[in-house]
Amino acid sequence: MGLEHVADLLVCPTCGQRLTIEERTLGCRTGHRFDQARQGHVNLLGRAAPANADSAEMVAARARFLGGGHYQPIVDALNGRIRAPRRIVEAGAGTGHYLAGVLDAHPDAVGLATDVSPFAARRAAKAHPRMGSVVADTWAGLPVRSGVADVVLCVFAPRNPAEFSRICVPGGLLLVVTPNEGHLAQAREQLGLLGIQDDKLSRLNRSMVGAFEAVWSQRIHWTLQLDAAALADLVQMGPNAFHEHSRVEDGLEVDADVQLSVFRRPAG
Ligand SMILES: C[S@@+](CC[C@H](N)C(=O)[O-])C[C@H]1O[C@@H](n2cnc3c(N)ncnc32)[C@H](O)[C@@H]1O
Ligand SMILES: [Zn+2]
Repeated sequence: MGLEHVADLLVCPTCGQRLTIEERTLGCRTGHRFDQARQGHVNLLGRAAPANADSAEMVAARARFLGGGHYQPIVDALNGRIRAPRRIVEAGAGTGHYLAGVLDAHPDAVGLATDVSPFAARRAAKAHPRMGSVVADTWAGLPVRSGVADVVLCVFAPRNPAEFSRICVPGGLLLVVTPNEGHLAQAREQLGLLGIQDDKLSRLNRSMVGAFEAVWSQRIHWTLQLDAAALADLVQMGPNAFHEHSRVEDGLEVDADVQLSVFRRPAG
């Protein structure tokens, strides 16, 4: 398990001092201790996970769906914008699917996955040998040293620009993936799923002002052939899992339409 690769990036969520790892326990000089779970992740949340954190069922559905390769174009696009990274942090990493895909393409890099869901963190702990996984809340502040990440990834997950900027090295990159308006449109229509707010991209760019400069934006548009099982996973893995929705018996051709936005932390 990869926690030892990234332990030196972490700080104590209680007192902010650096953490070191010894025999599966992270500890700071003050004496705060955080045990590595049997599944490999460490809980640095310091409290119970919020009720709306992804459940075990949602995470399992996400792992099955992503394992089907349906979102590979996103992995490829991320890799297309990254050059020789050493330390990568993914916030709201879920199962660690994207970070693992980036680590595969960059043999000298190590990765830290953070997510507020302990079930997601368990999966991410096993996603790649050079990946460590911690439970942490992006809103509350990441338990990560300042200025250590060459690349921060945030794929369909909550963003905290000030925190992302703080943990980035000067000149480091933030790669954000957001859904465009037509993303999964046919599935939304057939299944009565939640819609997408259409001002997401402008809101994203506005939210980064002062923390990052925008350097690249790319639409990624492809077609998914989803059978009934994949559609069921698609419903189950997202926010729709909390809502009533109808079922499908047949497969469906579905548009995938997302935006990769790349930001740079100013060097000076
Ligand atoms: C739509 S999923 C995306 C997961 C992953 N990036 C992917 O695309 O497969 C959103 C993720 O954000 C996590 N999340 C939600 N609120 C969070 C928070 N405040 N801090 C950290 N992670 C959070 C959820 O647990 C979930 O894993
Ligand atoms: Zn401490």
